[in-house]
Amino acid sequence: MKTKAILLLAIAGILSFSCGQSAPKVDSLKEAYDGSFKMGCAISPFMVSGRNPQAVELLLSQFNAISPDNCMKPESLHPGPDVWNFGPADAYCEFGREHGMFVLGHTLCWHNQTPEFFWTRPDGTPKSRAELVETLRSYIETVVTHFAGKVDAWDVVNEIVAEDGGFRDLGWVKAFGGDGYEVAKLAFQFANEYAPEGTELYYNEFNVWRPSKLEGVINLVRRLRADGLRVDGVGIQAHWGLNYPKNEYIENAIEELSALGLKVMITELDVDVLPISKEGQVIGKSLQDPQYQLEEFEAFLDPYKDGLPAEVEDQLAARYEELFKIFYNHRDQIDRVTFWGLHDGASWKNGSPIPQRTNYPLLFQRDLTPHKALEAVLAIPAAAVSE
Ligand code: GLA
Repeated sequence: MKTKAILLLAIAGILSFSCGQSAPKVDSLKEAYDGSFKMGCAISPFMVSGRNPQAVELLLSQFNAISPDNCMKPESLHPGPDVWNFGPADAYCEFGREHGMFVLGHTLCWHNQTPEFFWTRPDGTPKSRAELVETLRSYIETVVTHFAGKVDAWDVVNEIVAEDGGFRDLGWVKAFGGDGYEVAKLAFQFANEYAPEGTELYYNEFNVWRPSKLEGVINLVRRLRADGLRVDGVGIQAHWGLNYPKNEYIENAIEELSALGLKVMITELDVDVLPISKEGQVIGKSLQDPQYQLEEFEAFLDPYKDGLPAEVEDQLAARYEELFKIFYNHRDQIDRVTFWGLHDGASWKNGSPIPQRTNYPLLFQRDLTPHKALEAVLAIPAAAVSE
């Protein structure tokens, strides 16, 4: 009698498990979202060095894709007219390969973190159009050829579209003159020419959720394709906050880009919990003025120096939960979701738009323990299975 009861209990247990009523507990992002999208993280040469083995262990247990935070930007790869510095970027690629991760190259053509000599002659005079074309061509040829087979994809052009849907008059565009399309076209043309066929080519941008900017990005991709150029995907940088942007804007951007047959990536994800950083990259610059570091501003602008209050921890979890619900519901359209950093201490959001604050924008805290938000994010696919 007793044996029979135990047997029945065992069968009931197996049945309830296989019916998915109690989905197996997962504690890894990449496992929870396996089959939905890749889970990525931006890393620095310090991570690659392995000097913090706990951080490496956490990274490898949670993520299956990496982005280089700074080591593949033009100022890092080519800091002087006759200087090339491939070492840190090679180590980054090797790290990714060794651990079977998706390896992103970021970024070839950008107005930022690109030395002046790309656009001006040694005597300080501006380069001619022909010289600029040759600079861009030879830079992309050298870099893309060097990393052929080492990266899976390139962010070819970064942040060239303006908030109103036009082009930003910065960096390459300023040097070339004209409306900016020519720069994007040349960069994609050279990337198409020199990158191996299997290396994907992306456009990466912030505030893509804004309808006017989304239209500008869509127009850009359409024009590039009409000119016969391969554009495989668009990265939606997600430097967002607790209550912006509106979720419907995010969903709309994912759907519209995907309708063009593009791979959609959520790149550079972080959720700013501090005041006055709405759309930080655009309006935030003025907040770098030294006056905002004066004592009288401190309590207001940097309120969580000693820790994140429980109610904000809850808000962070709720925000991440709603974002990942959107991503999960659009998992057929999203190829990758990448966080901009592993833990709060490694985030650029401590320094921008106001220097030296204490922010909590990621899923892991400074001591590598998870925020409450991690559990909320992990629970989404499991909840869908058991529904
Ligand atoms: C941009 C760039 C990234 C990084 C972040 C902030 O969005 O694409 O490479 O510099 O800003 O750190």
